[in-house]
Amino acid sequence: AAPTDYEAEDAQISQGVVESNHTGFSGRGFVNYTNVAGSYVEWTVPVAQAGTYSLTLRFANGTGVNRPLDFQVNGAISASAVAFPGTGAWTTWQTRTITASLAAGQNKVRAVATTAEGGPNADKLIVDAVDSEKPTAP
Ligand code: GCU
Repeated sequence: AAPTDYEAEDAQISQGVVESNHTGFSGRGFVNYTNVAGSYVEWTVPVAQAGTYSLTLRFANGTGVNRPLDFQVNGAISASAVAFPGTGAWTTWQTRTITASLAAGQNKVRAVATTAEGGPNADKLIVDAVDSEKPTAP
């Protein structure tokens, strides 16, 4: 299946602001997490079929300090303290991928800062099915 992009600036934001002062983002901007533990971005991700999906966060971190995020899916921890290390500059964007089980219908995917640094700047979440392309028998 084709990946689907979900912009951070269109998601639900708790303790963060939409900004556009660092170039290289997609859409209208990115989310600058407030520098506190517990700040989060929550995307609503609809999928037709339950299964395993890749969740890729496009991010920038212009500091030298890791800014880990917990990923929660529908209220349950899916991946803990995923590392978002420095990318060298706030204008240098990289991606980091986890896999998670999603339910059929609408899923709430929340990326929560776990340290007082807050999260990295978040551009978008890219969602794709992991097991949709099964090889055909010879
Ligand atoms: C700077 C930078 C922001 C970033 C912030 C931070 O202010 O311009 O984009 O979010 O640092 O450290 O979180």
